[in-house]
Amino acid sequence: MRRFDIITHCMEYNSLEELDDADRVLLEQAIKAGRDAYAPYSQYYVGAAVRLANGSVLTGNNQENVAYPSGLCAERVALFAASALYPGVPVESLAITGRALHFTITEPVTPCGACRQVIAEYEQLHGRPVRLIMMGEKSRIWIVESIRHLLPLMFTADQLRKHV
Ligand code: THU
Repeated sequence: MRRFDIITHCMEYNSLEELDDADRVLLEQAIKAGRDAYAPYSQYYVGAAVRLANGSVLTGNNQENVAYPSGLCAERVALFAASALYPGVPVESLAITGRALHFTITEPVTPCGACRQVIAEYEQLHGRPVRLIMMGEKSRIWIVESIRHLLPLMFTADQLRKHV
């Protein structure tokens, strides 16, 4: 047997001003989108903004439902809208942020496991890494250059194929 280590990388920034213009603008669009989240059950309002390789920006926010599993996270709302409106156009970046009614989100909001899998799908489909920009209600920001950093050892389409 052997042990192997998995190394991932995340960059931390201390304010929006430290970001380059494109990232800052995308995060601001995510903040704005979060204001329209429909989250009466969790009262946890998430905003997401996707920038595509053609320059288009699509935003999303969490959409909850009285039958809880019928709701959808902000990231998937934005990504599915992007893929529906611009099929085949690679995703460059995804900004995520959130705000809660009854407490302060001190850590950056990171995508749930299901959203990570969906982000991975688009990375694989387009053969391009998706840059993730994550923020909470404080000014600390985390950026990873690919979903690989949040989903190591991910299941990919080539594992479905027979290898000879
Ligand atoms: N949520 C998101 O929209 N994105 C995340 O990254 C984390 C969780 C939503 C799902 C649900 O509506 C609420 O936040 C609480 O989990």
